[in-house]
Amino acid sequence: MKSVILAGGEGTRLRPLTLQLPKPVVPVLDRPFLQYQLDLLASAGVRDVVFSVAYQPDRVRRVFGDGSAIGRNIIYAIEDTPLGTGGAVRNAWPHLDDLTVVFNGDVLTDVDLPKVVADHRASGATATIVLYPVPNPAAYGLVEFDGSSRVTRFLEKPKPEEITTDTINAGIYVLDSRALELIPPGVSHSIERGFFPALLQRGDLVRAHVHRGYWIDIGTPEKYLQVHADLLDGRFPHAIAAPERGPRAFVDAAASVSDGARLEGPCYVGPGCRIEQGAVVGPGAVLTRDVALASGARVESSVLWAGCTLGPEARVRGALLASKVAVGAHAQVGPGACLGEDARIPDHSRLCAGA
Ligand code: GDD
Ligand code: MG
Repeated sequence: MKSVILAGGEGTRLRPLTLQLPKPVVPVLDRPFLQYQLDLLASAGVRDVVFSVAYQPDRVRRVFGDGSAIGRNIIYAIEDTPLGTGGAVRNAWPHLDDLTVVFNGDVLTDVDLPKVVADHRASGATATIVLYPVPNPAAYGLVEFDGSSRVTRFLEKPKPEEITTDTINAGIYVLDSRALELIPPGVSHSIERGFFPALLQRGDLVRAHVHRGYWIDIGTPEKYLQVHADLLDGRFPHAIAAPERGPRAFVDAAASVSDGARLEGPCYVGPGCRIEQGAVVGPGAVLTRDVALASGARVESSVLWAGCTLGPEARVRGALLASKVAVGAHAQVGPGACLGEDARIPDHSRLCAGA
């Protein structure tokens, strides 16, 4: 059993964050996003992983290499032009064996993967799709199934009048790899619009595994902020390695926080950060690494990537800042602002919702 992680999308909805860093390797709290998926896969004994990449493949490779440093065997299947979700899995086929776990490279979940795999094997199905109930399925792939968990219909991005159930495709599949013969090689193909409907039409058994724990697609700024709130509040089970300096105020041992600074949990201060006297790291603040807060600066409900700096009395609230964003003295950023790498916000400026 091996895995393919679909990590070739451009992450357009997360721009400008994803202009310099592809979505699969954006930092999520204390690690690159795909590390969470690699950990889940390892829980099911999967250590051989194919990263299917098309957009900025070298940046993904720079983060994970061949996986040997973390006890994995990572192979890169690179598309010159993106082949779509189905074409990408088909492209990875030469690297796979009998059973394949496919992951959309932008979902975070605590699904019981060992059980999904065991049930799949016991059922003799061609494919098992993990499903998740959501209030509004329109932005996802709708999946209907019967009383014996047999999938009866797969409808990608349904129109409002087509919504018949609340269970969506969670972007995690276990497949009998032989079924990949249904996908034509070398051309663009959607696993959701092409492969799954074709399996159903052929009469293959496709099973539903409904997950009721945690699940999120991190593909939009709102969801990316949400995932951090969930991690800080403990809604997603993840052991944050940094010690707590106050209730859920996690501070890495390699960060320096002045005695005169205030930490209001839940918050996270990563390695290399410097928090000066009078600065406030407020609820919901995530400073991934090497972030500097000058005296009186304040951050809350925001994610700041490596090397960001806040001048004296600067305020950042409800915002996303890519690497090395410099916010000047007394400037105010957010809520809803999303700033790309190296952005400079002059002293005393104000950036509000949606900037
Ligand atoms: N290699 C490769 N090549 N990967 C791709 C390509 C491609 O051409 N296109 C998309 N991907 C990757 C993306 O990087 C992402 O990790 C995953 O495939 C899904 O693509 P998205 O663009 O994020 O799709 P979506 O979120 O609109 O919908 C998909 O995910 C939903 C759950 O979040 C579908 O699978 C829906 O059915 C599903 O409900
Ligand atoms: Mg997505």
